Amino acid sequence: EAGPLSPMAPISQPPVILTQDELKKIAAYKAVDFVQSGMVLGLGTGSTAKHAVDRIADLLHQGKLKNIIGIPTSKKTHQQALSLGIPLSDLDSHPNVDLAIDGADEVDSDLNLVKGRGGSLLREKMIESACKKFVVIVDESKLVPHIGANGAMPVEVVPFCWKFTQERLQEMFGYADCLAKLRRNGDSESGEPFVTDNGNYIVDLFFKKDIGDLKAASDAILRLAGVVEHGMFLGMATTVIVAGEFGVTMKNK
Ligand code: 5RP
Repeated sequence: EAGPLSPMAPISQPPVILTQDELKKIAAYKAVDFVQSGMVLGLGTGSTAKHAVDRIADLLHQGKLKNIIGIPTSKKTHQQALSLGIPLSDLDSHPNVDLAIDGADEVDSDLNLVKGRGGSLLREKMIESACKKFVVIVDESKLVPHIGANGAMPVEVVPFCWKFTQERLQEMFGYADCLAKLRRNGDSESGEPFVTDNGNYIVDLFFKKDIGDLKAASDAILRLAGVVEHGMFLGMATTVIVAGEFGVTMKNK
């Protein structure tokens, strides 16, 4: 009878299943390969971008990168980068950003994005519009056939009469096709409104079908007084790096 030390048939290696966070880290590290000494860098916000900021700091401390200036896209990233000793500035002092690296909530095959479920869409859009190269880093769960049909499409609005603005957004897309909802802290309907780094509120649009003409929807939202910015990032990404179960893929515009 076979005992514990008897020769055994070779056991095939079980597949290595990476966690979503490990995939995010792989994509982030790949993006940091694009960083060169002397660059002004847009530093993104969120759990994926956080890995990129950590990596940039590591390379700075190892002396492999020099003279980097970071432009953070949120107070949270500012805090992280500051604590890691990355030299920081802003768009006023450094309006020409060489490269921005950031995550996204959704990515379609034309590299259009939904961003802002973390609440930082305005600063992200300002900084990522100002950069020569915008590298988006995601795990494969973020890939969608059409953006906007897979969760919230955030719209940053001024707090003044936010209900009025929410109602106009609701009417714009129709009750049958979309639900417009103020973002609140916590799960409760009576929670305090979520406040962005800019002191604004967010109305999340939950589309029940494809948005269709993204440019037309974008323009219509931005024409509404009371709206500051929205989370559709159309034609902005120059490269998307996707980490998935079967490796890393990179798509350029
Ligand atoms: C924040 C964002 C984030 O990039 C987006 O929400 C993705 O976050 P994560 O990397 O945590 O999945 O747009 O405003």
